[in-house]
Amino acid sequence: LATIRADGRPANRTLSFRGFLHESHRLMFVADARSHEAVELIGSPWADACWYFPVTHEQFRIGGPTTLIGERIREPNLGAVHKDCWRELSDGARLTYALSAPGEPRNSRVPFPTDGPDLTTPLPHFCVIVLEPREVDHLEINGKPQNRWRFSCDSHGRWSAVEVNP
Ligand SMILES: Cc1cc2nc3c(=O)[nH]c(=O)nc-3n(C[C@H](O)[C@H](O)[C@H](O)COP(=O)(O)O)c2cc1C
Repeated sequence: LATIRADGRPANRTLSFRGFLHESHRLMFVADARSHEAVELIGSPWADACWYFPVTHEQFRIGGPTTLIGERIREPNLGAVHKDCWRELSDGARLTYALSAPGEPRNSRVPFPTDGPDLTTPLPHFCVIVLEPREVDHLEINGKPQNRWRFSCDSHGRWSAVEVNP
C-alpha cells in the first residue's frame, strides 16, 4: 500500500488483504495506529494498492480514499468489523499490538510480552484501514499484446472503463 508522507515523499509497504467490508468493493487491511502508514493516512487519506495475481498474471492498481476504524469508532456495524478483524489475526500478529510503538528503536532491556492478548477485546492501537476504490488500473500481462483497462468512479459512484495501451 502506497501512501504520501507529510513531506510529500512516497512510502509503501506490503499489507495482507483482510477481506471486503460488508461484502462491498471496499478493501480492508489492518495496522497499528502508531505506525507510519496509519499516521500518513490520517494526514493524506488517498492511498494506492498494487496487487499482483501470479497465477493469472494480472496486476491491479487500486486507488482511493481510506478510512481508519479504531477503538473510538462508535457505529455498531464498524465496531463489529473492528472486533472481527482482531479475532481473525494470527496469535503472532495480535501480539505485535502489545509491543512498544512500531518503528521505534528496539530496547533489548525490555522483554517482549509472550502472552497473547485477549481475543475479544482489540488492543487500543489496533485499527482497520478501509480503502474505497475510485480508480483501478488492470493489466493482463499474458496477452499478446498485453491488455490494459483503466476504470474510474465518478462522484455519483458510477464506474466507467477505457481500454488503454499496455
Ligand atoms: C507478507 C507481509 C504481510 C504484512 N502484513 C501486514 C499487515 O497486514 N498489517 C501491517 O500493519 N503490516 C503488515 N506487514 C508489515 C508492513 O509491510 C510494514 O513493515 C509495517 O506496516 C510498517 O510499515 P510503516 O512503517 O510504513 O507503517 C506485512 C509485511 C509482509 C512482508
